[in-house]
Amino acid sequence: MYSLALVLIAAAATQAAILRNGVELPWYSTVCSRSDPKIDTCLRESIQTLLRTISKDGIKQLAIGPLDPWNVDELDVVLAREQNIKIGVKFVDVNTYGLSKMEILEVRSNFANPENMTLEFDFANKKIFVEGKYQAEGLISNLPIVARGEYNMSMSDVKGVFKMYGHIVQKNGEDHLAIDRASMTPDIGKFEFAMTNDKYPELTNMLVALMNANWRAIYFSMREFAEDSFDQIIRPRINLAFLKIPFNQIIWE
Ligand SMILES: *[C@@H]1O[C@H](CO)[C@@H](O)[C@H](O)[C@H]1NC(C)=O
Ligand SMILES: *[C@@H]1O[C@H](CO)[C@@H](O)[C@H](O)[C@H]1NC(C)=O
Repeated sequence: MYSLALVLIAAAATQAAILRNGVELPWYSTVCSRSDPKIDTCLRESIQTLLRTISKDGIKQLAIGPLDPWNVDELDVVLAREQNIKIGVKFVDVNTYGLSKMEILEVRSNFANPENMTLEFDFANKKIFVEGKYQAEGLISNLPIVARGEYNMSMSDVKGVFKMYGHIVQKNGEDHLAIDRASMTPDIGKFEFAMTNDKYPELTNMLVALMNANWRAIYFSMREFAEDSFDQIIRPRINLAFLKIPFNQIIWE
């Protein structure tokens, strides 16, 4: 009975606005059903559509910002390599362009176990551009360094797998999905880094040249860190949104 009512509400909702816990949402994408034997194909199209529809304005009711560009206010990184280098870098106003053009290639989902629901998809992105400002402070061989400036990164032929694991929690008597881990390990075809600096132009040019010549090794050594940062940035945002919508309204029973 309950699920029949849901299907009726949802069927009506695909034509107009969707009512979710008193929050009215416009149509963003197709809602897939767990009983659909082709659910992964449905999800692939649904996610692809969602990327396009939230690209410009995000979903305000769920505190999801625009996707393209995707803005992160602040990101703190501590680089502590070897004994004699320790630099804290604060990246400010980080804008990432190109995420709405991400191509969803294949989805693998499993919602059978409420303790471990999984969603994975393969993606490809021709071009991603990141730009922002930074402030760095630290020590290089006991020499204090304070610097600030702008930077940008161009990445092309980015491919990878997005993975998300979660479990069902009860909220107001309804099932909600709580994400335990979100990860992404992209392979990058080509990478180019640029940076300006107010104080140490020579050191900066050297650093940029080093980065561009060795980016593959640097990226490889930072993979684990990148994966953790991604989880820390993405997971709270997804959870904030998911805890506002019962799971049955994200994916039907
Ligand atoms: C959940 O399942 C995935 C495979 O679908 C597995 O890799 C992961 O470790 C599992 N997580 C937990 C917490 O059991
Ligand atoms: C990237 O940053 C460098 C240094 O600030 C700048 O010269 C270059 O124009 C920037 N590239 C783009 C595409 O904004």
